[in-house]
Amino acid sequence: MNGGISLNNKLLPLTNYAVFLDCDGILIEKGNINSPSEMQFSRDAILSLRYLQNYFTLFIVTNQLNIPKEFITHEQIEKINRALISRLAEYGIHIRQVYYCPLEHSEGYKYTKANPYFLNTAVSEYGIDLRGSFVIGDHPRDIRIAHNAGTNGIYLLTEYGRERRDELPLRSLVVNNIWKAGLLASQIAFSQMHKRDVDVELKQAAEIIRNGGVVAFPTETVYGLGANAYDGKAVARIYEIKKRPSFDPLIVHICHPDNIKFVVSELPSIASDLIDRFFPGPLTLVLPKSSDIPDIVTAGLSTAAVRMPAHPMALELIRMSDVPIAAPSANLFGRASPTTAEHVRKQLGNDVDMVLDGGHCFVGIESTVVSLISHPPTLLRVGGVSIEEIEKVIGKLASPSEHETMRPSAPGQLRHHYAPRTPLIFYDAIKDLPENVRAGLLAFCSPKESDRFEVVEVLSPNGDLREAAVNFFSALHRLDDMGLDIIVAERLPNKGLGIAINDRLMRASQTR
Ligand code: TXA
Ligand code: MG
Repeated sequence: MNGGISLNNKLLPLTNYAVFLDCDGILIEKGNINSPSEMQFSRDAILSLRYLQNYFTLFIVTNQLNIPKEFITHEQIEKINRALISRLAEYGIHIRQVYYCPLEHSEGYKYTKANPYFLNTAVSEYGIDLRGSFVIGDHPRDIRIAHNAGTNGIYLLTEYGRERRDELPLRSLVVNNIWKAGLLASQIAFSQMHKRDVDVELKQAAEIIRNGGVVAFPTETVYGLGANAYDGKAVARIYEIKKRPSFDPLIVHICHPDNIKFVVSELPSIASDLIDRFFPGPLTLVLPKSSDIPDIVTAGLSTAAVRMPAHPMALELIRMSDVPIAAPSANLFGRASPTTAEHVRKQLGNDVDMVLDGGHCFVGIESTVVSLISHPPTLLRVGGVSIEEIEKVIGKLASPSEHETMRPSAPGQLRHHYAPRTPLIFYDAIKDLPENVRAGLLAFCSPKESDRFEVVEVLSPNGDLREAAVNFFSALHRLDDMGLDIIVAERLPNKGLGIAINDRLMRASQTR
């Protein structure tokens, strides 16, 4: 009945692997704190964890050398740990557990770092698979424990880490900072998950981008059709391939928040707040454009849309290309977005120079687009980050004005967008359907009726909106490929990602 998705039907994290992150000096700036108020996250810690949690269950491991010395009590530590978990939760980061280890091994303290107790506990309590897991730390002992337990270690060259580097075991993975560690761990987990080494493909793709070519690549939302954002001629080919009207501006993709300065000319504090909370991830910001970005990218607008995707292949492609990448979704204009490499190949075939296969997109619906040009900020497209989440950070969003809807500043606003070739109607309108019509049903969780339909696609048997979003475009593509007379779609609950899916359905249902 339902074709299913290639994620083993697993929502995030995508694997059973874990990251055990050392706390002092790595996650938080200053070690051995005595109260939650002293807690200060180190540079890039938040964004790295947000990225890592797509693939890994997150654990924090902290040394508490002050417990045996009786400078701090267990109660104080528990309080700090609870504060740590809730501060991170405000940033959308879910920590499964904090393990703390009095440094000196003494009776009753099993959580010593010399004893990989916490690794084994994570295996037995949470079903963690250590083979693809990582310990990230800046003490050579962290790496030795990882190796002894049959898991991976990544050594960080913090100030402390530099001093002890020569004590490292041979063949240790060594990186300069936590963000590099996040990239490396995700890249390795991704390669293991897909049982292939993507490095060669990425090098080739980056070469194509640098030489003015066009590459289709995976992001967490949908596949993008990318070119060097500084190269107007390369970008022109995107419009040609997509058969996209030229008034339609593209999103520029970056691989680190710092690089936003290469795309936009102003960064108001409200933008920084959104970046801190949502990058990398399915949020696009519209800001005054940098003069380095050619007009063709922004379709002549004085603003540019920018986002940092959360997919390892996307980030690595941008990093290796060493330029921001302008990319719309990799579908023909107005058609349903691609969430697999196969969808891209079917629609764009040989027109692109290369299609990078990154598996099924794990958000499955395009990014939310917010313009920070106006006050209050305007919601231009509902998408992978819900309106509620954004409003929690920056307050009420405005809807696009009447004027903007007439001449859309975001084509996501065009009335018939995201459409399959097969006509689509809502379930509410089904009474008008003649008996002999071959219809397929796009259902949310349990289909209202199945007998009437040739085929039924269920978006999420458990009624999970996130799972429904992941499956949405794939299900639509499958129904569209069946040569049906009509697709009948159930409306989803109008909250969270359900709003974004209903929006796509509404636009797909507009008759051409
Ligand atoms: O998730 C996504 O956003 C995907 C992946 C590939 O990143 N990209 C995507 O691109 O959906 P596209 O081109 O299909 O949609 C981009 C949206 C459009 O609605 C476009 O009008 C809007 O962003 N946009 C781009 N630049 C803009 C600007 N300067 N002002 C207002 N809207 C803009
Ligand atoms: Mg699109």
